[in-house]
Amino acid sequence: MKQFPDNFLWGASSSAFQIEGGWNEDGKGVTVADYNSFQRSHLQADSKVASDFYHRYEEDIKLFKELGLKAYRFSISWARIIPDGDGEINQAGIDFYNKVIDLLIKNGIKPLVTLYHFDLPFALVEKYNGWEDRACIDAFRRYAQTCYRAFGDRVKIWQVNNEQNLMIRVNERMNMYHTKPEDIERVRAQMDYNMFVAHAYATNDCHAMVENCQIGPAVSSTMTYPSSNKPEDIWAAKMNDNFKTNYALEMYCFGDYPGYYKNYLKKCGIYPITAPEDGVVLKQAKPDFIAANYYRTLVASYLPADQDHPVGTKVNDIDFDLYGYFKIEKNPNLVASAYGAQIDPMGLRLVLNEYYRQYRLPLIVTENGLGTPDELTDDDKIHDDYRIDYIKQHILACYDAMQDGVELFGYCPWSVIDLLSSHQGFKKRYGFVYVNRDDSDLKDLRRIKKDSFYWYQNVIRHNGIS
Ligand code: BG6
Repeated sequence: MKQFPDNFLWGASSSAFQIEGGWNEDGKGVTVADYNSFQRSHLQADSKVASDFYHRYEEDIKLFKELGLKAYRFSISWARIIPDGDGEINQAGIDFYNKVIDLLIKNGIKPLVTLYHFDLPFALVEKYNGWEDRACIDAFRRYAQTCYRAFGDRVKIWQVNNEQNLMIRVNERMNMYHTKPEDIERVRAQMDYNMFVAHAYATNDCHAMVENCQIGPAVSSTMTYPSSNKPEDIWAAKMNDNFKTNYALEMYCFGDYPGYYKNYLKKCGIYPITAPEDGVVLKQAKPDFIAANYYRTLVASYLPADQDHPVGTKVNDIDFDLYGYFKIEKNPNLVASAYGAQIDPMGLRLVLNEYYRQYRLPLIVTENGLGTPDELTDDDKIHDDYRIDYIKQHILACYDAMQDGVELFGYCPWSVIDLLSSHQGFKKRYGFVYVNRDDSDLKDLRRIKKDSFYWYQNVIRHNGIS
C-alpha cells in the first residue's frame, strides 16, 4: 500500500458554468462562458442547465460525502454575486454559495474556492472590452473583496482564477469577437497583464482580510519534451513551457515578467501599458501554494523564423507554434484519449518536481482526469475501468513525486460529477458520477455512481493506493 499523509486533501473539482445551470436565475447575469456556450446551443449542450447543481446541490453534496471527499474545489460565479460585474451586489447569489459552503462544512468537506473560472460577467465585455481595460481590475478587486467578506470566515483556501495562462490563448474566452486581426496580440498581452495585476490585488487583499488563509494561482501545467536531442530542440521544448506556463508562474511568484518574455513582447511591439503602482503590488503578492491542473504532455521542435514568418508569428491558439521558437509535434510513444489528449502519468511527476524545485511552494493538483463518452448499461451501471486506470496511474505519479521530496498537499481530479465540457458539450464526461442527460435531451438528470466512484471511495478510505 502506498500510504499518503494523514491530512492529505483527497478532493474533486468543478466550475460554476460547467456544473450549476440556473444561468439566469435569482438575478444572475450572463457571462462570457454562457455567451460562448450559447453560440453552440444548436450543436451541443450549453450552460443553461449543465448538471443542474444549482437545484440539486443538496443531493450532490450527499454524494460527495459518500465518496469521502475531504475537499471540494469549485468556483463562484462572479455574475451571480455582481450580475453586471461592477454594479450592485446580488444577495441571492451570496445566499446560494453560503448554503453550499455551509453544507460542505457540515459534511466534513473543505471548500476550496476559485474566484473566476472562464466566466467574466458579459456586461464587462460590453462596457470595457473586458480585461483590456483597467476598470476590470477594479471590478475584480471589488468582487474578490465581496467574496472574502461574505465567505472568508469559512473558506480558507482560495484560487484567484483558473488557468489564466490557458484562458488567455483562446480568443473566445477573452471575448475578442470584434478585435481586428492585427490588434489581437497587442490586446491579448494587455489583457494578460491586467489579469496579473488583478491577481496580485486579490492575493494581497485575501491575506489582509481572511484570517489563516492560503491563496495561490491555478495554472494549466505544461511539460514539453524535445522532439530530438538536438540542442535547438531542447531549447524549443523549454521555451514552449516558458511561453505557455512558466512566464505566468514567474509573474505570480516574483512579480515581474522574465527576461525572455519581456524581449518577446518588445520585439513584437506589444509590451503592455503599465501603471506606476503596479510594480509594488505585483511584488508584494506572494502565493501560499501553486495549484497545477494537469492533463497531458507535449513535444516541441525548433521552428526557425523565415521571410514569411518573422520572429513571434503565432500559428493556432491553445497549443500555438511560435516562429523563432517552437513547433508542436505528436509524441509517438504515448496513447491519446478519445479526444486527443496524450496520456502521460510520468509527465505529472515531472511537472510537480519542476514547480517544486523552482518555487519551493506547497503544491496541489486541482484538475486531472479523462474525458470519455461513457456508456450507461441496461442495468444502470457505468463500467469506467479506463478512468480508474487513468486516475490510479496519476495518483501513483503524485506518490512518486512526494517520494522525490515534493510537498504535495492534495489531489482534486476533474470532475466530481459529469458536467459540461469547457467547449465540447456533455458527451465528453469526466465525473465519478454519471449525470443522465445528453447534449440535446435533458432526460431526468439523475445521478448514477460509476465504478470509478466506488474505486476512488476506497482510495480515500484507505488514504492510499495499492
Ligand atoms: C481545464 C479547465 O483546462 O480543462 C476545465 O479548467 C475543463 O474547465 C477541463 O473542463 C477539461 O477540458 P474540456 O475542454 O475537456 O472540458
